[in-house]
Amino acid sequence: MRFIKNKLSFDKKNVENLAKKFGTPLYCYSHNKIKSNILELKKYFQSFSPLICFAVKSNTNIKILKEIKKFNLGADVVSIGELLKALKAGIKAKKIVFSGVGKTSSELDYAIKQNILLINAESKSEILEIEKIAKKKKKIVDIGVRLNPNTDAQTLSQISTGKKENKFGVGEKVFLQLVKYINKSKNLNLKCLSVHIGSQILNHKPYQRMLKVVDKIIRKSKYKFEYIDLGGGMGIDYDHNNSKLNLEKYSLDIKKFIKTHKVKIIFEPGRSIIGDSAILITKIIYIKEGDKKDFIILDVAMNDLMRPALYGAKHKIIPLRKVSKKSKKSYEFVGPICESTDTFSIVKNYQKLNEGDFLAICDVGAYGMSLASNYNVRPKPMEILIKNSKIQILNKRQKISDLI
Ligand code: LLP
Repeated sequence: MRFIKNKLSFDKKNVENLAKKFGTPLYCYSHNKIKSNILELKKYFQSFSPLICFAVKSNTNIKILKEIKKFNLGADVVSIGELLKALKAGIKAKKIVFSGVGKTSSELDYAIKQNILLINAESKSEILEIEKIAKKKKKIVDIGVRLNPNTDAQTLSQISTGKKENKFGVGEKVFLQLVKYINKSKNLNLKCLSVHIGSQILNHKPYQRMLKVVDKIIRKSKYKFEYIDLGGGMGIDYDHNNSKLNLEKYSLDIKKFIKTHKVKIIFEPGRSIIGDSAILITKIIYIKEGDKKDFIILDVAMNDLMRPALYGAKHKIIPLRKVSKKSKKSYEFVGPICESTDTFSIVKNYQKLNEGDFLAICDVGAYGMSLASNYNVRPKPMEILIKNSKIQILNKRQKISDLI
């Protein structure tokens, strides 16, 4: 993304032209960026060639899933809906792992029928349910057990998952009991220990601590796991100040870990693959002047991009045309929805904006469209992909008539 003659260009396309052609709000993805993110992960981890299972929850667009599949990635799914989408995108069942604390009996039944790589169970009750279904089907089902390593991921509390007060996985004591139980079961085959301590992790230290806990527990269990699924969570640079996770350090720690434990590594990244691959283009409907700040009222709202309202997440907002004149007052970028949390950010010293100007909200590829809703009976935005300098429509704009 850069300015060419003061006009924003994204994957070599003039963004304002896209806004005018397709209308706003508009999600626009770059295939080049998705590709370079995948290749970067593969490069850092190449010495132990992990299975990379894309976390479908971060972006559920089937055309995106098809593109990701072409890089030989698998999928991490958390519902039957995501499993069906991953399969429909052509991702092989043997590259799919199924996570989640509340998989229903029919979801488990379907996953077992499809012979997916692993069902990563998160409780004793779930394991008993899988065993019951497996027995009925006279099958042996490959499973993982998710460990809650009680490790602080040092990320937003709302997206932290690896502490003992979180609902995810089981603690050490139960984990060790479950290993013994599964070992004796005729219908369950324990293949994997899985962990996922949280999302948008920028510091490699929590991962280091997580690996230490996993190491300790494997030793205690005396069990030979075939896979260790380290989950996802690799953070991206939302602030645009080089604050990415240090993948090299993370990779070194994993290399050390596999020297002792000869296991195959699985990752479940979502955000680090798709997060910075998209912008959300929006138009200013009105500018409402206030005493201390002006409200920039956009045509995009919390229903289109939920992260700021839900987690106080910050996304950079950049104008499509650069001008040198500055606004005297701060700007608050808000959506039209009748909620005070429908706000994106407050910025000082922004360039002077006018009604009708276009803006781009950055890094919205992950948990952007996948969290979008029809709140206030607002149609969901259109999604496009720039690939090899051509535009592909990923998803048409919903029509109001579809919602009535
Ligand atoms: N694996 C499991 C078991 C997960 O729960 C998640 C994310 C991932 C993998 C992928 O994590 P990632 O690599 O994308 O960080 N909506 C929030 C994020 C919620 C993440 C939930 N679990 C947000 O917009 O920040």
